[in-house]
Amino acid sequence: EAANSMHRDDLVFSYKGIPYPTTLCSPEGFKALESFEARSDDVILAGYPKSGTNWLSQILTDLIAISQKKTPGEESSVNAEKVDEFPYLEVGDAEKYERMTKLPSPRFMATHLRPENLPKSIFKNKVKILLLIRNPKDLATSFYHFSNALAALPSYETWDDFFTDFMTKKMCWGCYFEYLSEWNKYADQENIMTITFEEAKENPALAVKNIATFFGIPLTEEEHQLVVQRSSFQAMKKNSEKTHGSFGNIFFRKGGVTDWKNLFSEDQNKKMDKAFEERIAGTKLGKKLKY
Ligand code: A3P
Repeated sequence: EAANSMHRDDLVFSYKGIPYPTTLCSPEGFKALESFEARSDDVILAGYPKSGTNWLSQILTDLIAISQKKTPGEESSVNAEKVDEFPYLEVGDAEKYERMTKLPSPRFMATHLRPENLPKSIFKNKVKILLLIRNPKDLATSFYHFSNALAALPSYETWDDFFTDFMTKKMCWGCYFEYLSEWNKYADQENIMTITFEEAKENPALAVKNIATFFGIPLTEEEHQLVVQRSSFQAMKKNSEKTHGSFGNIFFRKGGVTDWKNLFSEDQNKKMDKAFEERIAGTKLGKKLKY
């Protein structure tokens, strides 16, 4: 059953042509974000909703802890009580950015925004960005279940209704195909590393190693194993009440690939294949996505 019966117009507002959930973001917040001063040693994770951002956030915050000679989990679990600001850059009140000036380096932040809606200082200061992308079919499947589980998002009576909206611009944070096209313009920059959900799933040890190398964080064999073990789906799900409270079950659903086969009709499958082929397949990011 739908998580809420509130009308879409009460749940969502539009900023620069893209819908966002009213309870998480605000026009004032976006205005304040424009003048956010990024530091060159900030650590940024960019990923569309449901691409696995909580997972990669776990890996990155553990790596940051290790770089500071702290024990992973004791100091810096993403959503643990001790975190000073909610890690998603565009989520929170307008004063958040002023408070963030007082946080010690390296600051970790995640974002679902497209590059053109991020503060200019991120690119000017060449901040390193880990860009996470996921197969649009599994991503849509995950987003559908999430929309019906999280009260902040418009819910859907049927998967068909969701699919129609997903293929247009109606999703919160905008259209995923447009998201990929916009980030594709940055895919060559040396301060940006792209990783796919699917490759991280297939070889998590290699993913952790590559991410650590990109951010210049040396790891002992023991530390490497610890980060891999703590970021497994099972470990994160088990720990989710501590890290995500009552949202644990919502964020750690299946954590796999090809669940889309349980939802897509043959026609929808063809429609998405066509959209992917026309809009993304030929781009650098499109080629990286296992499809
Ligand atoms: P599913 O709904 O397909 O299970 P986000 O964190 O960006 O909201 O993405 C959520 C998706 O990432 C969910 O996908 C979730 O299960 C999956 N996920 C979370 N932690 C994971 C992990 N450690 N390994 C693999 N997938 C994970």
